[in-house]
Amino acid sequence: MNFILMGLPGAGKGTQAERIVAEYGLPHISTGDMFRAAMANETELGLKAKSYMDQGALVPDEVTNGIVKERLAEPDTEKGFLLDGFPRTLDQAKALDEMLADLNKKLDAVIDIHVPEEVLVERLAGRFMCRNCGATYHKLFNPPKEEGTCDRCGSHDFYQREDDKPETVKNRLAVNIKSSEPILTYYKDKGLLQSIDGDRDIDAVFEDVQKIID
Ligand code: AP5
Ligand code: MG
Repeated sequence: MNFILMGLPGAGKGTQAERIVAEYGLPHISTGDMFRAAMANETELGLKAKSYMDQGALVPDEVTNGIVKERLAEPDTEKGFLLDGFPRTLDQAKALDEMLADLNKKLDAVIDIHVPEEVLVERLAGRFMCRNCGATYHKLFNPPKEEGTCDRCGSHDFYQREDDKPETVKNRLAVNIKSSEPILTYYKDKGLLQSIDGDRDIDAVFEDVQKIID
């Protein structure tokens, strides 16, 4: 199964991806996670990405397409892949078609998690992450089972994403609303788009995701 998880910032792409990885073992390819890892390691890519991400802007297509092309060529994608946060522009969607054609692969589905904007703002404001393993939590909607301890790795070191600050969130949402519309139409026209209501609890959303995958 080769598919894409789409949705505005805070829609729950990363949260659902964690469940999908646990259940189906597909490699999770998140461009946002790749940029954050590069930033943490202070690589050239990380420094370049940081200037865009900190403002809630999109990293230029040629940079983003390059890292996805390399990642999709790795052998673990033979069993399928889960793209999260890519493509985010029409140019990226077309570049992805070329990459997949070169690799003799095709997309099976594009799952769009739909959540109203006001809910997204609340989700991003309350999100925090484990610095050690990257697990995502929310102080109200998805807290760790034991306060202050990561469910997945036991670490006590949490942080808030730089781009979750209120002034950045506003711009991120505006940028992503504008860029996502043409891609949704693009995949709808290809008959690949499956929309699900993401404004329900995490388990209910995952049930819908599973129905599509199964
Ligand atoms: P990226 O990391 O992809 O961020 P994003 O798209 O803004 O999405 P988020 O990760 O913020 O949200 P999510 O949908 O994963 O939600 P989550 O599951 O965490 O990209 C970051 C930046 O990198 C971009 O702004 C851009 O600069 C750059 N970039 C990345 N890809 C790019 C590309 N292709 N082209 C150009 N630039 C690119 O959930 C959010 C919160 O809600 C959490 O606290 C969670 O616990 C909670 N939650 C989740 N589901 C539910 C639910 N059902 N009910 C209640 N709470 C929930
Ligand atoms: Mg995410």
